Amino acid sequence: MKKLIAGNWKMNGTLDDARVLIADILNGLHAQPELLKTCDFLVCPPFLHISAIRHAVYNSKDVVFGAQDCAAAENGAHTGEISAAMLRDSGCSHVILGHSERRQHQGETDALIRKKAERAHAAGLIAIICVGETADERAAGNEKKVVEAQIRGSLPAGASAANTVIAYEPVWAIGTGKTAMPADAEVMHGFIRELLSGQVENPENTRILYGGSMKPDSAKALLAAKNVDGGLIGGASLTAREFLAIAQAA
Ligand code: PGA
Repeated sequence: MKKLIAGNWKMNGTLDDARVLIADILNGLHAQPELLKTCDFLVCPPFLHISAIRHAVYNSKDVVFGAQDCAAAENGAHTGEISAAMLRDSGCSHVILGHSERRQHQGETDALIRKKAERAHAAGLIAIICVGETADERAAGNEKKVVEAQIRGSLPAGASAANTVIAYEPVWAIGTGKTAMPADAEVMHGFIRELLSGQVENPENTRILYGGSMKPDSAKALLAAKNVDGGLIGGASLTAREFLAIAQAA
């Protein structure tokens, strides 16, 4: 399976910054076409920058794009929300759901994330469902229990390798410069793979990404770990050089 190298741009940059970043990524891939043999590339810009990215990647199969969230409702009177169908209509292939920042700051629950994932699937999007424990939960030895509850609670019926990606992102590693030890990531990814049997169709081919302070120097060992099928990258996805260096490390 090719590694999925996914950039989560979060709430960063101007429209011009987004245009420069995607141009740099496309140029970088043009210069290093061998990266496309081993990796697939995804960028998830803020909603308002999606149409510029669509324009920039037009006619290129090298990079696909997605969003960082979608509404749980199908359409209608939901001021400020963006539906899964709108994202699909705007050319998105993926949507990140249940990122820990949304679980923490927007109070998203597993049940809400599952509804969003159902909408995403109905609209033809691939849902990237994020799970991961906090530092306290790990210190208490509860990391597997937490992740199991998140997986069971947020994966919708009908999830398959074709429409679902899991991102394991330990909360204590996100934006902190700390990464999981590759051995710990391997244990958790193996555990998630086991959980997926019975929960998704084709669990063996369902991608499980690692996320949390992945950088070019930490990427090699993490991406080499068993059951780590790619990375969900925040900070290091904001420069093409670092983003592509992670792919190089894969
Ligand atoms: P980070 O973010 O790489 O900046 O830690 C990862 C994420 O939150 O998806």
